[in-house]
Amino acid sequence: MSENYLILGAGGGIANALARTLKGQGAQVFLAGRNQAKIESIAQELNSPFLIIDGTDFTQVEQAVTTATETLGGLDGAANLIGSVLLKPAHLTSAQEWTGVLHTNLSSAFALVRAASTRLRPEGGSVVLMSSAAAEIGLSNHEAIAAAKGGIEALVRSAATTYASKNLRFNAIAPGLVQTSLTERVWNQPKAAEMSRSLHPLGRFGTVEEVARAIQFLLSPQQSWITGQVLGVDGGLGKLKSLARPQ
Ligand SMILES: NC(=O)c1ccc[n+]([C@@H]2O[C@H](COP(=O)([O-])OP(=O)(O)OC[C@H]3O[C@@H](n4cnc5c(N)ncnc54)[C@H](OP(=O)(O)O)[C@@H]3O)[C@@H](O)[C@H]2O)c1
Repeated sequence: MSENYLILGAGGGIANALARTLKGQGAQVFLAGRNQAKIESIAQELNSPFLIIDGTDFTQVEQAVTTATETLGGLDGAANLIGSVLLKPAHLTSAQEWTGVLHTNLSSAFALVRAASTRLRPEGGSVVLMSSAAAEIGLSNHEAIAAAKGGIEALVRSAATTYASKNLRFNAIAPGLVQTSLTERVWNQPKAAEMSRSLHPLGRFGTVEEVARAIQFLLSPQQSWITGQVLGVDGGLGKLKSLARPQ
């Protein structure tokens, strides 16, 4: 029997890589997200079922989990790849921007936890959420997104405890800078890119495939004893102090 997974935010850069990685290992994937053209494109490429949803809406996320379960014949796990970024100091952040960052990142993660906790296979399953290295270290102008991602890390630990008796695992990945459309304004500007790259002790940005493989690792039933963890996939950004690298 193949493993079945739901990906929320499936039109995004890391989500596309995750869908290809999971399909490549023989799993079935159900794709959900809001951008019809992007979702249809990856769904067609992988011959996978999909649903267009707003991931901040609890009812629509429930519908995605239920439809994925019915369509695939049970669900082994789900990952939330929905996200946004806002690089502004707190005093320049409007109430609307703050609410937007919280809803897109934290509410979508919470919506998946509440829907998946009663709908994954009775024998157990795995949920993976996306944090960020910005929740671990203080990065300037990251107040709103760091708060939202910090909330996701706390959510993972509580949910992992609550649902451990049902054999449901909850973990998060905390990436450093990965080159996707989300971060284009940094990696596409030479000065900003160099500054950001220098913060990563391994001296480079991450790839979508590197993050996708880490998500796949945590989703897999082979990792049946890992729960409540935040895994940094970040070139050392979250935990290490970077010194100038010898050229
Ligand atoms: N890239 C990085 O450096 C980095 C670093 C740390 C954490 N992360 C996290 O990793 C995850 C994936 O990021 P990514 O780099 O792959 O970004 P991405 O390519 O921009 O993907 C994010 C996806 O979220 C979707 N989305 C946003 N709001 C939504 C909503 N309300 N309902 C449904 N879908 C919604 C976007 O849809 P649209 O296409 O319609 O915009 C987009 O497809 C995010 O949680 C992000 O915060 C990324």
